[in-house]
Amino acid sequence: MEKLLVKGKTKLNGKVCVQTSKNAVLPILAASILTDKEVIIKKCPKIIDVLNMIRILKELGCIVQWEGENIIIDSSGASKSEIPQNLAKELRSSIFMLGSILSRFHKAKVAYPGGCDIGIRPIDLHIKGLSMLNVKIEESGGTLYCEGKDLKGAVIHLDCPSVGATENIIMAAVLAKGETIIQNAAKEPEIVDLQNFINKMGGKISGAGSSIIHITGVDKLHGVEYRPIPDRIAAGTYLIGSAMTGGSIELSNCCTEHIYSLITKLKESTCKIDYINDKIYLKAAKRLQSIHTIETMPYPGFPTDLQAQMLSLTTIAKGTSIIIENIFETRYKHVAELIKMGAKITVRDRMAIVRGVKSLYGTQVCAHDLRGGAALLLAAVSAEGVTEISDVFHIDRGYENMTDIMISLGADIKRVNI
Ligand code: UD1
Repeated sequence: MEKLLVKGKTKLNGKVCVQTSKNAVLPILAASILTDKEVIIKKCPKIIDVLNMIRILKELGCIVQWEGENIIIDSSGASKSEIPQNLAKELRSSIFMLGSILSRFHKAKVAYPGGCDIGIRPIDLHIKGLSMLNVKIEESGGTLYCEGKDLKGAVIHLDCPSVGATENIIMAAVLAKGETIIQNAAKEPEIVDLQNFINKMGGKISGAGSSIIHITGVDKLHGVEYRPIPDRIAAGTYLIGSAMTGGSIELSNCCTEHIYSLITKLKESTCKIDYINDKIYLKAAKRLQSIHTIETMPYPGFPTDLQAQMLSLTTIAKGTSIIIENIFETRYKHVAELIKMGAKITVRDRMAIVRGVKSLYGTQVCAHDLRGGAALLLAAVSAEGVTEISDVFHIDRGYENMTDIMISLGADIKRVNI
């Protein structure tokens, strides 16, 4: 177990090359078993979630190797269709494996998933969608037993645009007989990336990025070499950190169009932002101004995965800001920790009312989930005095070398064993 000791009031200045997207890589790793040929995924982030996904692939019988920043997957010898409970509990994305395991082995046994504790996070849409593709699913003792000898295309309407359910259905439909149409599909960039990855393997998918996705089943997929998209949430986190500390930052390896919703809010807080090609430049405002409302929505709305970091920013912005979390019902665990640091926040159901103070101050706080942990780290760097952050493993799940990057930008952070 490690904790962070952060001495605050340092500016985050400098350059960051943004990591590859965690949420793109995880489903792509799951989809790698759709073929028995070699798959190379370039510039994979070395983060705990990816390492756990690799453990799952190895458990299924794949040979997975790192070659520098790339991952090479050989699943020709994969034979198991079962994800052990201990691995499934560590990673919510294990549920995304259901679709690809069914496509490859026509049966699957997977325990209910773990991941961040940020709400109820049901999997009913995954189960309904797969059932419509002719998969028989039974649940017993927290484990799902699935049989899919004869996967058949179908028209599937999702009650809400779930990212994971959309990805799972795509992976189950890509080798099924006939055509599948997903209506009210999630439109996140990571779904477009999954489509592009599978199509490069010979799949026939179109429409990703819109709310209707068409999948025409094919007999076989071939090997592929693929570089997934940059991480829009990591990019956003560093922009917010620099804004909170009065810094100036240049990000490279960005897809600006993926974070317009954040850029608009940072401009509202009076930061200066420019972008060209894959670069984004931010110069912080002298004094951040409050943001009228930030309401999380499915893409292209404001991402729930940047809510905690922006909430952290508004704690030191002049005036009152309103945050509304529409996606996950209990995604405010960082609020109690920020209040310990002097923030003035009131939460009523899904709404947080934040009255900005001049500065937060250091104290002992705990990271309860990945993005909430990142939000606390940003708060700590901007605060007066020393902040101790425990349970930092949450941050390591999704950010590659975040503390080293922050130190290279000027933060004073020590990682200590406890
Ligand atoms: C993915 C992301 C996560 C992000 C989230 C929303 C990955 C690995 N994770 O999570 O970082 O915060 O999208 O952008 O890509 N829902 C149901 N039934 C279901 C599935 C979902 O009701 O079967 C609900 C959820 O409770 C939630 C909403 O749908 O309220 C969105 O969840 P979903 O899009 O599925 O999130 P994940 O795929 O788990």
